[in-house]
Amino acid sequence: MSKHASSSLSEAQKRAESLRSQIREHDRLYFVMAAPVISDREYDRLLQELRDMEAQFPELITPESPTQRVGGEPTKLFPPAVHHVPMLSLANTYNTEEVKDFARRVHDLLGHDPKNGFTCELKFDGVAMSLLYQNGKLVRGATRGDGTTGDDVTANVRTIRSIPLILEGSSRFLQASFEVRGEVFMELEGFRRLNAQREGDGEPPFANPRNSTAGTLKTLDSREVAKRPLRFSAYQLRFDDTKIEHSAELDTHSRRLDLLKEFGFPVSKETRIVKNTDGIMDFAMHWQEHREALGFEIDGAVIKVNSLAEQERIGFVAKSPRWAIAYKFETKQARTRLNGITLQVGRMGTITPVAELEPVGLTGITIRRATLHNADEIERKDIRIGDMVLVERGGEVIPKVVGVDGSQRPKASKPYQFPTACPECHTALVRPPGEVNWYCENPECPAQVTGRITHFASRGAMDIAGLGDQSVEQLVNAGLLHNVADIYDLKNRREELLALERMGEKKVDNLLQGIETSKERPAARFLFALGIRHVGTSVAKLLLDEFGSIDRIAEASEEAIDAIAGIGFEIASSVVHFFEQRTNQALLTRLRANGLPFHGVKKATPALTEFFGGKTFVLTGTLSAMTRDAAKSEIEARGGTVSGSVSKKTDYVVAGVEAGSKLQKAEELGVRILDESEFLRELNPNSSHNV
Ligand code: IVH
Repeated sequence: MSKHASSSLSEAQKRAESLRSQIREHDRLYFVMAAPVISDREYDRLLQELRDMEAQFPELITPESPTQRVGGEPTKLFPPAVHHVPMLSLANTYNTEEVKDFARRVHDLLGHDPKNGFTCELKFDGVAMSLLYQNGKLVRGATRGDGTTGDDVTANVRTIRSIPLILEGSSRFLQASFEVRGEVFMELEGFRRLNAQREGDGEPPFANPRNSTAGTLKTLDSREVAKRPLRFSAYQLRFDDTKIEHSAELDTHSRRLDLLKEFGFPVSKETRIVKNTDGIMDFAMHWQEHREALGFEIDGAVIKVNSLAEQERIGFVAKSPRWAIAYKFETKQARTRLNGITLQVGRMGTITPVAELEPVGLTGITIRRATLHNADEIERKDIRIGDMVLVERGGEVIPKVVGVDGSQRPKASKPYQFPTACPECHTALVRPPGEVNWYCENPECPAQVTGRITHFASRGAMDIAGLGDQSVEQLVNAGLLHNVADIYDLKNRREELLALERMGEKKVDNLLQGIETSKERPAARFLFALGIRHVGTSVAKLLLDEFGSIDRIAEASEEAIDAIAGIGFEIASSVVHFFEQRTNQALLTRLRANGLPFHGVKKATPALTEFFGGKTFVLTGTLSAMTRDAAKSEIEARGGTVSGSVSKKTDYVVAGVEAGSKLQKAEELGVRILDESEFLRELNPNSSHNV
């Protein structure tokens, strides 16, 4: 390397480090202090400069760089993650009496009141998360699972911007090994935005922010997770080293929360220390009353004995500590009369029963309609027209009917009979075995036709200017559109368009122009626009990356599709089903004739790597992250070969769990052995998922 190049590299390195440190500081100001000092645009500019720099000097990229929060290659499954200290749950209390009982028990077990009082915290309604840090770096993120073993979701957790990947500061504890526990959750604003977008993508909306958080953490494609607005709040800190763990500076829970904040973790600023039941109830009542103002969902308060030494003396019962309780809030419910039940027909033919309610106020809005989910739910809850029902509103935009007040039931009421025909086209409804929904299977059903065309033309899909909900409905009613291929024949029906109401020359020209322009969209958008069940934008991209064209996808087997990381069997079977339908084949033929984009860009196979190229590998034992076949193809894709038996010619033996004689032979011959995490690291050198 020339002198000039090396000095510019070292300058770049300095600048990159400075940028990273600035970005981390702004993350901290934003997420921990809730006091940002620069605009989003300025922040994005810093990030972009760092990205550019790393693109120019890839050797500068570190796994902890803020640019690496975009997620990595999809995975097939989450490896198990064992919790060295089990993740427990909390006993619930619902009223002052039960809280008093708790305080009394604590007093009796200690022989006195807690010396440092109780801490009162918000009970976040999200998903519990365990984060492990070593040498100041995040090394693992895991869900609770059964309390003993959860899922290793590190790759997903690394995309959450409020979780520090690397710790900065002067605390002498920073480099120690420790575990932080807390809650991953979604703010209401982000949740609502996400659901609006999902509905646009033809994907079912999440019921509430908690489900949405749980679903997101279980997403196999971390690039998708990176787009979701997840947040984190820390509520527990435990050091591996017992000396540190028992040090005097860390002897109260509240001090540990302060330390967490100093480390750069977001910690709830609502936490208070109180002396007794009165203090606890004041805190709980305050937040029961004011929780709307938080911008995220809580389902109660958590009360903990503040002193750690006292916590230890008080101990545990079964699955929960005796030194802490949850105080659960009542849910936000209202009672009102169910005046009727109507059915909505989705673009996939799904029938959703909707409750028509006597208008009632609930947390500041008037509710007139609520979802009844499906026929099973109506039957299970025995909901009848004329009943007084309980309506609940969580973070979800659509309220739901959660129960019935049976005592108020009119004498003449009868169990609700789910209609047997589609309300729009009167075709008999069907319910596939094992499914909770009824469907209208008439592809010509006007509700579905309108829904499919609207989806096809929508923003995230073909984005056809001038073809919104109302125009689609008008054109369907006028008999000009029966399916999405008809859109591209509209240019031959100009006169008929002009004859329609509110359709002047200019509007028609714009519409036809919008339709022509839409042919230039990328193939992935077109594939998504076709409205295949379970194929949202990111699945569409994965499919095209793998197969290169819509025709190749149409020919692919369920197994071949299922083998793609980030895609499961349900999606695979839905894709195959779609392309098997005659009507869909006919549609595709017409769309092709009209010049729609069937070809994507097949993703380049990974380049031969220095590590794998020309080397011979032997696989033995079971890998947790992939099947042996998958490991074989990964090695071959990188220029290596896989052999069945170990010899002197073997370069590496990859040993999973319960590796047997091959491992022994490798040891005897002095062949190098890779354990699973070393192997994964070589496969994905830029992913820090492997610990
Ligand atoms: S402490 C042993 N603090 O509630 C105590 N939990 O049923 C462990 N949660 O699984 C939990 N906010 O997911 C604690 N401030 C908070 C919390 C909190 C929410 C959740 C957590 C846990 C569940 C307990």
